[in-house]
Amino acid sequence: MKNSGKTTGGKCLRIQKSGPLCGRCAVGTSKNAVLPMLAAALLTREPVVLHHVPDISDVSDMISLLRTFGARVSQSGHTLRICARHIKTTSPNFHISSRLRASFLFMGPLLAREGCVTMPLPGGCAIGRRPIDLHLKGFEALGVKSITASGHVLAWRQTLRGAAVHLAYPSVGATENVIMAACLARGKTVIIGGACEPEVCDLIGLLTAMGAKAEVKDGRIEIEGAGQLHGAEYTPIPDRIEAGTLMIAAAVTGGDVRIDRAPHKHLMQVTSKLVEAGAEVFPYPGGIRIYGRARTPMDIVSSPYPGFPTDMQAQFMAACCVLGGQSTILETVFENRFLHVHELIKMGAHIDVRGNTAVITGVGRLCGAEVKATDLRAGAALCIAGLIADGETVIQDIRHLDRGYEHIEDKLSSLGALITREV
Ligand code: EPU
Repeated sequence: MKNSGKTTGGKCLRIQKSGPLCGRCAVGTSKNAVLPMLAAALLTREPVVLHHVPDISDVSDMISLLRTFGARVSQSGHTLRICARHIKTTSPNFHISSRLRASFLFMGPLLAREGCVTMPLPGGCAIGRRPIDLHLKGFEALGVKSITASGHVLAWRQTLRGAAVHLAYPSVGATENVIMAACLARGKTVIIGGACEPEVCDLIGLLTAMGAKAEVKDGRIEIEGAGQLHGAEYTPIPDRIEAGTLMIAAAVTGGDVRIDRAPHKHLMQVTSKLVEAGAEVFPYPGGIRIYGRARTPMDIVSSPYPGFPTDMQAQFMAACCVLGGQSTILETVFENRFLHVHELIKMGAHIDVRGNTAVITGVGRLCGAEVKATDLRAGAALCIAGLIADGETVIQDIRHLDRGYEHIEDKLSSLGALITREV
C-alpha cells in the first residue's frame, strides 16, 4: 500500500511515563484477515475490492507480490482494487517474501489457477521454526506434488480434486491455503482439524461473496469446488489484536477508553483476563469501553481460537510485570515467542523462563530503557511497558511494529500517551 502520507519507518519510538489513557479511538481492520484476502484475489479474473485496508507494511509487501504475479492493484484511500485477469507464476522476490509469513498464502490460489508454482520459503516474525509441512500435506491430499530445495518450494498438480484433509494441528495459514485451493478443485473438500480463528471465517466470507460454496459445519470446513469464482466487494473484520493491545494499554495506566470497532465477541479471553485482573469492561454496540486498573496477577495459557490468543501474550506479559504478585504465561502455539522477555528485563522486570512457561514476579516499577522490537507483538508489549516505566523508553527496530499496527503512536497519543516517532 502506498503510504497514506503519514510517517512510517523512522528511527525509533520514544515513550515517556504516561498518566491514565482516556478518550476514544477506533481500531483498524484485521491484518490477519486482510493478508489472506489479498492472496485470494488471485482466484478470479474479475476485480476484488477490499475496503478499510490498513496502511501497514505487510499489506504493502503483499501488494508488491500481487504485482509480481501480474495482478493490477489500485488504491483509493483505504480501498484496494485488485484485478488478476492475467497472472504469471514468476517466483516472487525472495527479500519481500521472506519478510512475511503470509507470502506463502499465494501458493493455494496460484496452484488452483495455474497448476505449477515456485515460491520462496516464507519468513515473518522469528517466533519459532514455523514449518510449512501442514500446508504441503493439505495440498497433497488435493493432488499436488511438491519438492522443497534451496529455500524454495516447487509444487505442481494435474487435476486438483476435492478430498478429506486431516490437519494434525489447527494451523491458521495451512487451513487458509487449503480452503483457497479447494475453491477451484473438482468436487468436495472437507477439512478436519482446521483452524477456526475469526480471520479464517472472514476469509470464507470473502470467498462466499466471490461465489465459492464454503462453510464451517460441525467443526469441519466444507468446500464445494467451483469451476470459477467472480469478483466481489468486501469489508474485512476489525483487528481483535489491535483492540486487545489498546485495552491493555488502558488497563495498565488505570484509564477510561472507548474503543470503537473493538469486536467484543472475538475478545472473550482477553476481556475475561482483564476483568479477572481488576479492570472493568463494558461492551457497547460497535465497541468496548475499558475502565480502571489491572492489579491482580494472572495465569495465561495461549492456544488456538477460541483459546487465549498467542498474538496477545507479549502485551499481557508487559502488564504482568507490574501486577502485585506472581503471574504465569504458558505459550503453547509457538516455541520461541518469548523474545520480549529479555527486553522487559532491561526495563527492570523479573521474569524467569522455564521451557515454554514464563513466571513473572510483579515489581513496583519499571524503568525506561533502550529496547528492541524483536517482533511485531514484542514491539507492542514494549509500547505498553513504556507507558508505565519511569523516565523514557526508546524502542528501536520499529519496522516490526509497522508490519501490523497502523501508526500505533497516533492512536496511543490521541488517548494521552506521551509517545513520539523519531524520524
Ligand atoms: N505449524 C506447523 N506446520 C505448518 C504450519 C504451522 O508446524 O505447516 C505450526 C507453527 O510452527 C506454529 C503453529 O503451527 O507453531 C501455529 O502456526 P499457524 O500456522 O497457525 O500460524 P500462521 O498461519 O503462520 C497466523 C498469524 C499469526 C498468528 C498465528 C496463530 C497470519 C498472517 N499470521 O500465523 O500472526 O500468531 O496464525 O494464531 O495470519 C501476528 O499477527 O503477530 C502473528 C504472528
